[in-house]
Amino acid sequence: MTTRIESLVLDRRAGGAPPSPHGYPLVGALPRMLPDAPRFCTRMMLEYNDLVRLDLGFGSIYLVTLPDHIHHVMVANHDNYWKGDVFERTRFLFGNGLVVNEGESWRRQRHLMQPAFAHRRVAALLPIMAGVVQQRLAAWEAPSAAGQPLEIGREMMSLTLGIIVKTMFSLSIDERELAVMSHCFNTALEQITIRMATYFLPEWFPLPHKRACREAVATLDAMVYRIIKERRESGQDVDDLLGMLLAARDEATGEGMTDLEIRDEVMVTLFGGYEATADALTWTWHLLDEHPAVDETMREEVASVLGGRPPTFEEITRLTYTAQVAQESMRLYPPFWFYNRTARSEDEIGGYRIPAGAQILICPYATHRHPDFWKVPEAFHPERFEPSQVAGRPRHAYVPFGTGQRMCVGRHLAMLELQLILAMVAQRYHPRLAPGCFVVPKVGTSLRAKGGMWMIPDRV
Ligand code: HEM
Repeated sequence: MTTRIESLVLDRRAGGAPPSPHGYPLVGALPRMLPDAPRFCTRMMLEYNDLVRLDLGFGSIYLVTLPDHIHHVMVANHDNYWKGDVFERTRFLFGNGLVVNEGESWRRQRHLMQPAFAHRRVAALLPIMAGVVQQRLAAWEAPSAAGQPLEIGREMMSLTLGIIVKTMFSLSIDERELAVMSHCFNTALEQITIRMATYFLPEWFPLPHKRACREAVATLDAMVYRIIKERRESGQDVDDLLGMLLAARDEATGEGMTDLEIRDEVMVTLFGGYEATADALTWTWHLLDEHPAVDETMREEVASVLGGRPPTFEEITRLTYTAQVAQESMRLYPPFWFYNRTARSEDEIGGYRIPAGAQILICPYATHRHPDFWKVPEAFHPERFEPSQVAGRPRHAYVPFGTGQRMCVGRHLAMLELQLILAMVAQRYHPRLAPGCFVVPKVGTSLRAKGGMWMIPDRV
């Protein structure tokens, strides 16, 4: 008789199906996965240490967590994997913007937009970002003096959204408009979560909150079209992302982008540019509050490199421990805890057969906890990101920004923002969890704290 492990090996040799956990009739493993999908995926990775097929009633998902397998899907054989029906469900917000676009049209747009996010260019934006942060932090003085808690997630969103509109679109939007924008994006994000999770249902299916979402997108559209119109009418040649989009010309026809095409890229940049960065910061404040020794070390670095001044770019590059804190925080709480792909045609991953049309779920939340690459995976140890330790790990053991050709276009901007905001907040405040606030993760397409992360910004 063959043992369980032997039969897995035989399946693999024969290009068979990957291992699959026990499930219930009709719904498969869905009831086990639903209560906490990131943790369930982690358990599957620990149990099988392999590719896993999850049968979920409506269909199967192939869970990819091992670095070699991630490399296969996202880099070595990326042509065979596209974003598929799941991402099609986000078109109501992103249209044909970069994050959804595919093929030659994606390549052209990525080529066009990439220079706006280049490292050197982003570095030059630092003083603008610091100005936004300084202004916002001044508004914390009164709640700080009164010992009043702030929902730190909302505060971080206001900061990162303020930075993105100012750096990429040269706009000064007032607090009220930023709050409306942020509220509308949150409504749309909830709808994205619902639509992605139900991608197998027909478009007409009556999903919850559809009407609120339509209204939110209409409000965002009005804002974005107004931004485009005002810039076109101003005739100004401004050197920012919006300027680049407006100036772009098709090589063959000489035609510029339509307002709709520009709207889609603006929407993707606004959304992609603030939400994930704010989530990363929010979890970082929580982790720092829970780990006073790490918090202390980061504050010492900030004090010794900057004193009380806002940082220059050269100084930011010296905030190495602060960068490691941000990296370690995104290891434990990757803002995108999963991303998905669909197989165009049949393939083989790690010796297992992947049928055409298979749904692939890449789960950084699990990969970032694989004990072969991360000692005591649940512990918060920024030292893991010292260069000598990074060199000893497979490249795809850490993928918060994705990998391969569709890797996050805004990653340099995001890292700079994370360091800048951590340093500037630490210079003035010490956010501490408010009494009575218990942090329970709420899982959607992103990871947030249920009921918000309420913290009191003690003055240092
Ligand atoms: C901590 C912050 C951020 C994280 C963790 C993050 C993560 C990611 C990930 C994982 C992807 C790839 C998704 C996939 O392959 O399916 C991605 C793509 C993308 N990100 Fe980010 N991101 C962050 C910040 C930003 C910022 C600041 C911007 C822009 C201002 C941005 C714009 C984009 C865009 C446009 C794409 C699509 C790229 C393409 O498909 O060519 N992101 N991001």
